[in-house]
Amino acid sequence: MAQQDKAKIGLIGLGTMGSALALNIAEKGFPIAVWNRRSDATRTFHAEAGDLAERVIPTESYEELVAAIEKPRAIILMVPAGAPVDEQIAALRPLLDADDMIIDAGNANFHDTNRRVRELDDVSFLGIGVSGGEAGARHGPAIMGGGEKELWDRVSPILEAISAKFKGEPCAAWMGREGAGHFVKAVHNGIEYADMQMIAEVYGVMRDGLGMKADAIGDAFARFNEGALQSYLIEISSIVTKAADKHTGEPMIDLILDKAGQKGTGRWTAIEAQHLAAPIPAIEAAVVARNLSSRVAARREGEELFGAAPMQIPESTVSDEMLERALIAGKVLCYAQGFDMIAAASEQFGWALPLPEIAKVWREGCIIRSAMLDDMAAALAEDEDRNLMLAPVFARYLREGHVALRELVALGARYGHPMPALSSGLSYFDTMRTARGTANMIQAQRDYFGEHGFERIDGIEDEHGPWHGHGV
Ligand SMILES: NC(=O)c1ccc[n+]([C@@H]2O[C@H](COP(=O)([O-])OP(=O)(O)OC[C@H]3O[C@@H](n4cnc5c(N)ncnc54)[C@H](OP(=O)(O)O)[C@@H]3O)[C@@H](O)[C@H]2O)c1
Repeated sequence: MAQQDKAKIGLIGLGTMGSALALNIAEKGFPIAVWNRRSDATRTFHAEAGDLAERVIPTESYEELVAAIEKPRAIILMVPAGAPVDEQIAALRPLLDADDMIIDAGNANFHDTNRRVRELDDVSFLGIGVSGGEAGARHGPAIMGGGEKELWDRVSPILEAISAKFKGEPCAAWMGREGAGHFVKAVHNGIEYADMQMIAEVYGVMRDGLGMKADAIGDAFARFNEGALQSYLIEISSIVTKAADKHTGEPMIDLILDKAGQKGTGRWTAIEAQHLAAPIPAIEAAVVARNLSSRVAARREGEELFGAAPMQIPESTVSDEMLERALIAGKVLCYAQGFDMIAAASEQFGWALPLPEIAKVWREGCIIRSAMLDDMAAALAEDEDRNLMLAPVFARYLREGHVALRELVALGARYGHPMPALSSGLSYFDTMRTARGTANMIQAQRDYFGEHGFERIDGIEDEHGPWHGHGV
């Protein structure tokens, strides 16, 4: 095959995401060679590629795939995270040259990406986080790159071309070395969990507290989507609450079991936050809420024993505006936590993660895309080190919204509506605006039983209390 007839890039794994990404790449004018473990899937993919088939080179062996790609080669892996990625790397390595590149575009744990970057000395490795689901992959995802910058620069013309665009700007950027791209993607998913959970909590108040029908709840979300909450997640929340089941004609949402699935990226974010000592309580609460949602039998038993929890809330105590403001405040607090975690990782791993750039990349293509992210990008560009809740535009939302959030959480507590993410967002807010907290009590206890010592506030140099020597 002459060099000019060769593919610009290769791709392994023609599942949901791989197929969509390959078509996107072909559509943007880049010939692509593809390979799938099951060759029948490769043949079907090629046969169904329509006009784009002429830019797709189907291959049925690793050798054929490698031979079909222009040198230095770049091959995208779009297979499940973990062992399948290591298997594909092991199969490709002997066939590749030192300047060839393997790109893992799946949802890898960033620790695995760090390891692969370190281990692979005979081939180059890039880890990219791709967000936006199947539609995003097909028409424009948000892409977060990690690895050596020169490697990113080599493939960025393709990745930028296929990415989503916000006012013409590509939503694809290099985040940093090693697993930085996959790390940022994991935090994106953690934020996604909390954003979704907060929406679900407000949905619960409308459904169980106010007895609103699904269609009316859909209307409320549609209204929210016209203001500061404008986002993909609010938009689809309106769509899914208004949709009718094709079998029964009932609202689809009312027939779905309240048991949330997860693939683990939210959990990774929560675990990593603990390692980093980065406080992300709303995200952690959202992960816990998904775990608790799967305890269906235990929850039914609890309801039988203690009586149903969510009671009607007097209508006069809740307004649409209050729900919207509470959700705005919750959302700001959740993103403030996510970016705070990114800043903590940036420092701890020495990655110099570009916080404003991250907010920019998330403005389009990904699941958490929203109008607010544009303001976040501007606020972070002004001062990267400042917690987002302190930036003037978000401080204003919080000043206006924390009262609504407080009232809603109080109603939740009074009438039995669980609000793990919204209430932990509120606790975070209250903690972050309390100059003199209560950790002096923790320090006194620690000094009493363990002689751990403490710092005094009056400058006297004595780090132990009068109980010194009396502890256990
Ligand atoms: N779905 C999403 O919305 C989404 C969004 C962002 C990121 N991701 C990530 O993208 C990656 C792919 O997800 P997907 O949704 O496209 O999965 P999928 O539809 O299940 O497709 C998986 C693909 O990987 C191949 N595969 C599985 N195990 C393999 C192995 N051991 N060796 C070689 N090939 C193997 C499958 O080949 P066969 O056809 O032979 O089974 C198939 O082509 C995952 O890391 C996922 O977390 C998914």
